[in-house]
Amino acid sequence: MKSITYKTAGGETEILIGRGIAGKKESFLPLKGVMRAAIVTDSNVAPLYLDALCGVLKEELKVDSYVLPAGEESKTLTSVEKLYGFFDRTGITRTDLIIALGGGVVGDITGFAAATFLRGVRIIQVPTTLLAMTDSAIGGKTGVDLPSGKNRAGAFHQPVRVIVDPDFLETLPPEQYSCGMAEVIKYACIKDGALFERLKRGDDNEDIIYTCAAIKAGVVQRDQFDSGERKLLNFGHTVGHAIERYYNYSGYNHGQAVAAGMCMLRNANMTLGGLSAAECDEIEDMCRKYGLPVRIDFGGDDPEEYFRTDKKLEGDTIKLVVLEKIGSAKIVQCTPAQLACLVMRQQ
Ligand code: GLY
Repeated sequence: MKSITYKTAGGETEILIGRGIAGKKESFLPLKGVMRAAIVTDSNVAPLYLDALCGVLKEELKVDSYVLPAGEESKTLTSVEKLYGFFDRTGITRTDLIIALGGGVVGDITGFAAATFLRGVRIIQVPTTLLAMTDSAIGGKTGVDLPSGKNRAGAFHQPVRVIVDPDFLETLPPEQYSCGMAEVIKYACIKDGALFERLKRGDDNEDIIYTCAAIKAGVVQRDQFDSGERKLLNFGHTVGHAIERYYNYSGYNHGQAVAAGMCMLRNANMTLGGLSAAECDEIEDMCRKYGLPVRIDFGGDDPEEYFRTDKKLEGDTIKLVVLEKIGSAKIVQCTPAQLACLVMRQQ
C-alpha cells in the first residue's frame, strides 16, 4: 500500500492506495472518537460492494447505510435533505464518520451533506471509479446541481482519508474507464510529461492512479481554494463544459467532453501557449488510444454563447488553460469571442 498526505486549512488528508485495502478495517481506523459510520452509496455500487464494506466496519463500529438512485439526477438539494434525515436517524455526531462509497456523484453529494450537517462531520471518500480515484474524491470540492446549472451549490470540505482501491475498477464499465482516462491524460498534459510517456506504454492502473493522486494532492495543498494553480486542473474543461451544456448533459459523458475540449484547443495551445503541432497530434492520438473523441461539433449558430455563460467567467474574461509543452501549462486571458474563434476555426 502507498500513501500520500496533504495539508489544508481543513486539516490533514491521507490518501491510501492499494489493491484490496477497502476490504480491511485498518484502512478506516484508527480515528479518534469514532463510534458510528454512516455509509452513502448508490444503486449501482450497493449490490457489488455495500455488504462487504458494512461487514468490515461492523467489527468496530455501529454502521448504517443509505442508497441513492444512481446517476446525476440524484445530485440535488432534495437528496441532501434525505441524507440529513438519514444522518439524524443514525445518531451520528461530529466526531463520527460519514463514508462516501461510489463515483463522482456520490462523492460530491455526500461530501456536501457532510460539510453542512452539524456544520461539518468527518468524511472518508471511497472512490469506485477511475475519475473519482484520480480527481473528484481528492481536494474537498463538494456540491449539488441547481436548476440553473451543474455544481452551483457547494462547499469545500476536505476528507480525512481517501481510500483508493484499484480492485473496484474490475467492475467499472469500459465507457466509465475511458471517462476517467480523460482526466489522467489531462494530468499528464498539464504537469507530467513522463506520465504521458508511461500512458503510451500502458503502465499499470495502480501506478498511474498514484501519480495522478500525488499531482492533485500537491496542487490542492498549494491552492486549496482554487485561486491560482488549481485552475490548471481545468485544462480542456472550458470547452468540455460548453459541449456538455450544448448537449444538455446527455449526449456525451464528462470525460468525452473534456477529451474533445483538450484537443479542440489545438489553435489556442499553439498560438497562446507555444505547443507544437506534433505535440497536439500526440495528445489526439492518446485520446483515441483510450477510446475518447478528439472533436465534438457543438454550439450551433452561436458557440460564443456557450463560453459567455460559463460559470467560471470573470467579468468578460475567461482564464483559459493552455499548454506550453506536454507536461507544462499556463493560464492566459481571453474573451468568449476570441475563444470561440480559436476553437471553431478547426472544427
Ligand atoms: N476537479 C477540479 C478540482 O478539483 O479543482
